[in-house]
Amino acid sequence: MTGLFITFEGGDGSGKSTQSRLLTDWLTAAGHTVVHSREPGGTELGTELREIVLHRRGFIAPRAEALLYAADRAHNIATKVRPAMERGDIVIQDRYLDSSVAYQGAGRVLDAAEVREISLWATEGLLPDLTVLLDLSAEHGRERIAATRDTYDRLESEKNDFHERVRDGYLALAVAEPDRFLVLPATEPIEVIAAAIQTRVVSLLA
Ligand code: TYD
Repeated sequence: MTGLFITFEGGDGSGKSTQSRLLTDWLTAAGHTVVHSREPGGTELGTELREIVLHRRGFIAPRAEALLYAADRAHNIATKVRPAMERGDIVIQDRYLDSSVAYQGAGRVLDAAEVREISLWATEGLLPDLTVLLDLSAEHGRERIAATRDTYDRLESEKNDFHERVRDGYLALAVAEPDRFLVLPATEPIEVIAAAIQTRVVSLLA
């Protein structure tokens, strides 16, 4: 495959979507063909799965939740991401398998290695060329969400210690794969974070 696959990860309120949009615009302006996706919900089927997994009322068993995210992922990678990469495009995506390892693994306390294996099966082993992790404390993330809206989805409404486990889970993933991860403090100004990401992407493209 010739394209590039770049993912954005981080807790709720870490500014992933802002940064992935800025990078998409910057690469597009530089003449690259960029496909933007997100999980959950990058495809039509994914939009329906997203509604279930984020907004369905009542309990969803942790393993069922993990499989719903994996189903969304399998479809997104097979029908959107791989075809784009085969065309040589750059795919920029909000969240990928590291979200499952951090949220369903560390957060819901499923076995992290098993959660990762399920995603790798779902995607036939696709790993990103670069994963940008925007690191933010749970407390800070909650303040940011509270400042912008007053409704929370199923995951966002989890308690602070859930979000602290998610953060620690993410940082452990970055330590385990230092070449794939770029970890940046989400509290830096937007332009500073964007510039650091651009520098890394330039070296990837070279
Ligand atoms: P997202 O759309 O990124 O929401 P936000 O922009 O508010 O961060 O993600 C929705 C939620 O889904 C988020 O709380 C994290 C959760 N999630 C998982 O728990 N596991 C996963 O595999 C993915 C992709 C997301």
